[in-house]
Order: sequence, then C-alpha cells, then structure tokens
Amino acid sequence: MADTLRDDDGISNPSFNLHLTQLVDEAIARQPNRRLLLKTGLGMAAIPFLGGLAACGGGDDPAPTAPVVTPPSEQLLGFQGIPTSGADTVTVPPGYVATPFLPWGTPLSLSAPGFAADASNTAADQEQQVGDNHDGMAFFGFNTEGNALGERNDEGLLVFNHEYINPEYFYKPDTDPTDWLAPFTFEKARKGLAAHGGTVAHVRRTSAGEWELVRNSPYNRRIHGNTPMTIQGPAAGHALMQTAADPSGTQVLGMLNNCGNGRTPWGTFLTCEENFNGYFGWNGVFTRNTLEARYGLSETGFGYRWHTVDPRFDMAANRNEANRFGWIVEVDPFSPASQPVKRTALGRFKHENAELVVASNGKVVVYMGCDEVNEYAYKFVSSGTFDASNPTSLANRNLLSDGTLYVARFDAGAVSGDRMGNGVWLPLVFGQNGLDVGNGFADQGDVMIKARQAADRVGATMMDRPEWVAANPTKPGEVFMTCTNNSRRGTTPASSNSIDGTSVSSSSRPPVDDANPRASNAWGHIVRWNEAGGDATALSFDWDIFLLAGQPSFTDQRAPSSNITMDNLFNSPDGLAFDSFGRMWIQTDGNFSNTGNFAGNGNNQMLVGDPQTKEVRRFLVGPSGCEVTGITWTPDRTTMFVNIQHPGELGAHPRRPPTYSDNDLARDPTVFSQWPTAGIRPRSAVVVVRRTDGGVIGG
Ligand code: FEO
Ligand code: CA
Ligand code: CA
Repeated sequence: MADTLRDDDGISNPSFNLHLTQLVDEAIARQPNRRLLLKTGLGMAAIPFLGGLAACGGGDDPAPTAPVVTPPSEQLLGFQGIPTSGADTVTVPPGYVATPFLPWGTPLSLSAPGFAADASNTAADQEQQVGDNHDGMAFFGFNTEGNALGERNDEGLLVFNHEYINPEYFYKPDTDPTDWLAPFTFEKARKGLAAHGGTVAHVRRTSAGEWELVRNSPYNRRIHGNTPMTIQGPAAGHALMQTAADPSGTQVLGMLNNCGNGRTPWGTFLTCEENFNGYFGWNGVFTRNTLEARYGLSETGFGYRWHTVDPRFDMAANRNEANRFGWIVEVDPFSPASQPVKRTALGRFKHENAELVVASNGKVVVYMGCDEVNEYAYKFVSSGTFDASNPTSLANRNLLSDGTLYVARFDAGAVSGDRMGNGVWLPLVFGQNGLDVGNGFADQGDVMIKARQAADRVGATMMDRPEWVAANPTKPGEVFMTCTNNSRRGTTPASSNSIDGTSVSSSSRPPVDDANPRASNAWGHIVRWNEAGGDATALSFDWDIFLLAGQPSFTDQRAPSSNITMDNLFNSPDGLAFDSFGRMWIQTDGNFSNTGNFAGNGNNQMLVGDPQTKEVRRFLVGPSGCEVTGITWTPDRTTMFVNIQHPGELGAHPRRPPTYSDNDLARDPTVFSQWPTAGIRPRSAVVVVRRTDGGVIGG
C-alpha cells in the first residue's frame, strides 16, 4: 500500500516439441485444400481432428503421401523458467510476448475523456475510464453471433476488478506543499469511488494477433463505488442493513475493494469485496461495538479521508452503511443495464476470491478465503442444482441466492507435526452449533452479516491469511488455497479468537498447528485438501501442505519445502488459478526488497505448479513495486490476460528513492516506475501474454 494508507497490519525447460502452427503447416502441406478449415480452427482444440483429417480419404481428398504426424501432448511445464528481476518491466520466457493493455484511465467509449498524465482527470471523467489497481479478472468469449456467452477466442468481454487507489499517484497535488491531498474535498472522494469496482471491456483480437478495445461497444461499462446495486439473500432487508437513504435494506450504492473473482457457468462474474473497513471512519470519538471491532472498523480507517467529506462513510452519521459491504457481488457483463447483486447467502467477510465448481451431484460450490491474519476458509453449497443442458437458464441464474455456508476446521489427524491431517466443514446455520439468540444471533441474516463471529463460535481454524482458492479441474474434489503470510502466530502469550465473537480483528496470536506450521510465517504456504469421495459438497476432507515458500539457504524450521530452490523462490503466494489443462498458476504479492529473508526473490512474480509432481517454475516477473494478480484465458488458452497492480508502490524496493514520502512521490511521480508508459506516472494495467508461434500458454 501507499505509505500514507494503513492496512490492517498497520503497515503499510524449453519445449523442443513441434508447435501447433508447425503441425498445421505440415497438415496444410499435405492437404492444401484444407487450408481454410485448419486456419479457421487454429488452436489446441484443432489438434484432435488433425489426425482424423489426415486419415480421411473420401471425396476429392488426395491420399496421404506422408506419415501422419502425431501431435505432441501438451506439457504442464512446457516453457523455460526465467530468473528473477528487479527491473521496471514485465519479463516472460523465451518465445513469449507480454503487452500492456487497458491501463488505469483508458477511456471506455468514444466520448469518454482521455487519461490526463498529470492525474487531473475529474470524478466524472474517471467514471468513464478504466479504474485503478486491477485485480481479479475473467474473459467471457462471445458466441458466434457476438451477442452472448460462447467459446470464441478472438472476441469477448474482459471483466476485471479495481481494488483500491494509490493516492500518491491518483491525485494531482493541490495547494498545500506539505500534503498533496489537502484540502480534501467531496469531489476527490467521488473520484476515488469512481476508480474502485470493476470494468467490463469489449475486446477483440486483431489480424496481427494484438488485442484492442472496441470503444464504441454498448457492453463497455464501469461499475464503481456509486453504482446502484441490489442486496439479495438472507441479509437483505435485515435491520443491520437499513440506512436512512435505504430504509428497505435492499439497495446499496457501489462495491468496494474488489479483490479476487470467480465466474459462473451461466456467464456472470463474481467480484469479491475485501478490505471494505478501510473506507469508513467516525467523525468524533468512536466507541465501536463488537461487530465493528471484529471487522476492523476504526475511527480513521486506512487514511482515504472519505468519511471527512461524505457522510455515507462517516459511521457517526450512517452506522449501518459498513454492513452493506464485504459481500460477493454477481455481475452480468452481457446485460449492461442490469444491477449487480450482492449475494448475502455467501457471507460477509474480507473476501479474496470465489472459486466456483459444479459438484458431481449438480450443486454449485463456491470456495472463499477471508484475507486477514488468523481468519478462515469457507465454502458455500447451493440449495438448487445446476442444469447443464441449459446453462444460462433463469433457474441457474439464481443458484447463489440460497444455500448453506460452511467454514473449515483443519485437524492434525493421526499424527501431529507432519503437516497433514483431516478436516470438517462446519455449517453456519441459524439454530445450529450455538448460532442462536442466546449467543447473539437473531436469525440467518444475522449469521451472514456476522459470519466471522459465527465462525468463531463453531470452532473454525485460524489460518495464515487465506487468499485465493483454486480447484483442480483434472481431479474432482482437489482444492488449493494460498496462505500468504502471518506475522502474528507462534508468539507468546498465545491467544485465539474468542467463541463469543468479541475478539478485535487480527488481535489474536494463535500457536502454530499442523496446517499453519510456522511461527512468524514471512513467506507463506499453499494448503491442499481433497474432499471426501472427490465430492465438492462433502463435509469432510483430507489435507496436506503442497508448498512452503521460503529461503532455501535456511535449514531450520524457516526452510521451504523441497520443491522450492534458488531457481524458483518467492514469497507471499496470493493469486491462484488453474487453467483448463491443469496448470496451477501462482501469483505473488509480497516483499520485493530482495534482501535478508527475501534475498533472491526480486519483484513480484507468477509461477506455474504441477499439482501432481509439485514442481514449480517461474513464468513471469512484474515491474518495480507491483503485485501480480488476476488471470484469465481465451477458451483455447492461446491468449492469457494477467493483471499488474500498483506498479511503483515504493515499499522496500531496492531502487526506491530512499527518503521519499508519498507527498514527495506525488510531486515527482515518474522517479521510481514509469510502467507501462515511459515518461508518465506508473499505472495498473492488464498484460496480454501470447506465444510468438501462437501456441498454448505454458504448454
Ligand atoms: Fe486483495 Fe488479499 O488481496
Ligand atoms: Ca498431522
Ligand atoms: Ca490478493
């Protein structure tokens, strides 16, 4: 984060196989009259019929004159791992290109104003431009007609989150030489709100293989901190959701701190509200209640100052407004006029992402982490079942409206200290396991609004900051979760979240346990679980630690797992996603000082893991001061979109100007990073990754 913003921690192998294009060219050489068909279907999806086509002898096809070439099987790690870097650029393996796309400020329509390099765009401008701090992302290919969800690889809707802003780059300095933000105004708060939320961008691939924004498309849309949206589910209309502006408790303006994401098979985007607490403050002396304390609400927030100019964010004036944030929000990108829906059946916490799988029995399961030290892992299981024969049916579209939320308990199993065990999913259902009136829960809506406290009550396991959850598409029931780091475990005196829900967020100091085996876990780890019987709706699972990140030069308990070497070391795994072939992509948001505990880590990066062998190889390194987060593919996986968030955050980067404050940086915004546009302030952006031979990314 920016130095002036305070977070809850108070701190701020080369492939020598023939590539697809070679195979296609060879097939065309053998059967030139099939050129059009082959070129039209270029992509891995074409491979299965190459052999069949070569064997086809009907009609006017000439008999094959050359032996049939057997296509290479796609490799999980079919790329050359790259070294780390501290440079202000994106690095990818040989044979790949990475092109910045849709940076903060990109105008989304023909009439939208362009980005002002001095950050002087107004709030009204920002509402028509791509927002800041790109995060979770999904590509929805069009159908053949170009008007709904389909499988096209050349055109579709790219939907991505905007988590927060970096005030030192976001605002043009004002009149106070000591404080570039002063005087802070309602207009500045509105501009900040406008850069949060998400963007829907209609994109297409050009004949040269590059990607472009379709600027006159009716699908292009900004959803931001003032966009009207609906509150649905058990908490809709609840007394704690009612405000003077919305006595019904069913309509809210905006979504905030949209971090990771999910996607549904019915073509909607799930966006996850994370550190919403940072935007609220209290003008006066704040005496917070247990609910507010458990969710980390405070008198000054993280330093955004919105509460000083907009009563909506002043809890003294609007005490319930904060309860209307911290939810999973469902967005229909194919319906630009539709209102996003906050799905309260999935619980209120600091949502990282929302990994959706359809279980073998048709129930929809959504895995979710709550990202704060010593918080929990959750899953939602729908009441209804998915109709695969009609994916976009109305019934499917309501599957997230009703179901059961569970929270995970990771037990040590038969042996303690072996970093594996078993676990159970504990239901957060009013009337069960002490979630009743006597313990402060009035109804199911109350349980969802107070999901952290409900999880305290049922005895969930405190984890090392749960981040993204990802399900292996090649092994039903196998799920991975990043635990990014934790500086508040294993110290004395030990303490745990109180079952009565009165613990202040991140105040506990639990002892180490099997699933979180390190005291002061500076590097993070990845936990894996397998649901009983491979059934995502099962209520028990086995788990182990897939990877402990770390520094291989240590041999004590700080040492990493054996799959971490001097060639692939990293810290703070955060983003996590599988491609449809089964590669596990790991993205980092960690310490980029490249010294001490983090020597050899370099800038934040992205790696690929083999979920079976546990081999990990570095694929991408981001520019200075960035986090790498958010990932999606075209259906054929020949284009990968990745987000670079907040390039230029100073942190402890070895090249940071040593004495600079944020006020200095605001006045000299090109001094540290100029990514992605030389000569101007750094900007978050999408990166389009392609293989120069047009092949599958990573294969
Ligand atoms: Fe928004 Fe936990 O990262
Ligand atoms: Ca064990
Ligand atoms: Ca994250």
